[in-house]
Amino acid sequence: MIFDLIVNEEPIHTEAPADISLLHFLRDHLKLTGTKEGCNVGECGACSVLLDGKLVNSCLILAAQANGRRVVTIEGIHAEDGGPNDLQQAFIEYGAVQCGFCIPGMVLAGEALLNSNINPTRAEIREAIAGNLCRCTGYQQIVDAIQATALKRQEKGRRD
Ligand code: FES
Ligand code: FES
Repeated sequence: MIFDLIVNEEPIHTEAPADISLLHFLRDHLKLTGTKEGCNVGECGACSVLLDGKLVNSCLILAAQANGRRVVTIEGIHAEDGGPNDLQQAFIEYGAVQCGFCIPGMVLAGEALLNSNINPTRAEIREAIAGNLCRCTGYQQIVDAIQATALKRQEKGRRD
């Protein structure tokens, strides 16, 4: 099957099996291995990506369902200079990264939330990352990092 879609702002035109999951299409065909394969059944969130701006588990979606649409993976999240963006920097500063396996999905869950709600409560942040499991950090630092980024983006919005 021919696939035509936009991944991280780049047009992709390629052939892959019609029944391939979006997760395996990204990892195996496009070599975007920042998207992690955890449970493969929709329970851990390690495979989270944005599909037309919405957070989805790429293990549960056929790549065919993303055809003609826009996908953002963790490789598409960065500062203008290619380094960590403000949210990724906050994860580092708040000690929200330990083994790192959950982090691509957590960052995308955070971006999805902040794109729709620039002033989330801690409860809303917890709800937004409820589908993303972290076995290391206890979540507190992750919530801190997302909340700090929300505040910074609000301040920046007021200045701009
Ligand atoms: S690998 Fe997709 S939810 Fe766990
Ligand atoms: S940092 Fe290890 S699973 Fe989250």
